[in-house]
Amino acid sequence: MVQTLVPLELMTGVQDMDAQHDHLFQQMARVKEAFFAVSEDSTEGLQLLSQLADDLVRHYAWEAAEAKKLNVPFGEHAREHARMAAFVEAKIGEIERGTCNIPALMVFMERKFESHVAQFDVRLAKALQAASGREQSA
Ligand SMILES: [Fe+2]
Ligand SMILES: [Fe+2]
Repeated sequence: MVQTLVPLELMTGVQDMDAQHDHLFQQMARVKEAFFAVSEDSTEGLQLLSQLADDLVRHYAWEAAEAKKLNVPFGEHAREHARMAAFVEAKIGEIERGTCNIPALMVFMERKFESHVAQFDVRLAKALQAASGREQSA
């Protein structure tokens, strides 16, 4: 069994969310490996990074849908998702043009994602759990 890459303090307790976060952390590790394995050729790294960008967008949509389903406020969280998605898209453009500092980008992305989970997703998970508890007891 593959070990989870999600730090314990970032586990939210919402199983689907934790599984998706784990998948995204695994993908970030693969992107990093690909870029560092062959430094002159960024083709595979770029492919994996675009896949990661798509999966991030799908994950953001999933969180938004869960919040909507249970009437959990999501405005600021959605704006943060949009900022992160735009950042990744911009970086893909820079990599294509050869103007991106890839090691710095990957460290930054991981930190950024970790702090997003800590600041937004852990709170969202608690709100989802509370709301679904209310719904079940109603
Ligand atoms: Fe998330
Ligand atoms: Fe999120």
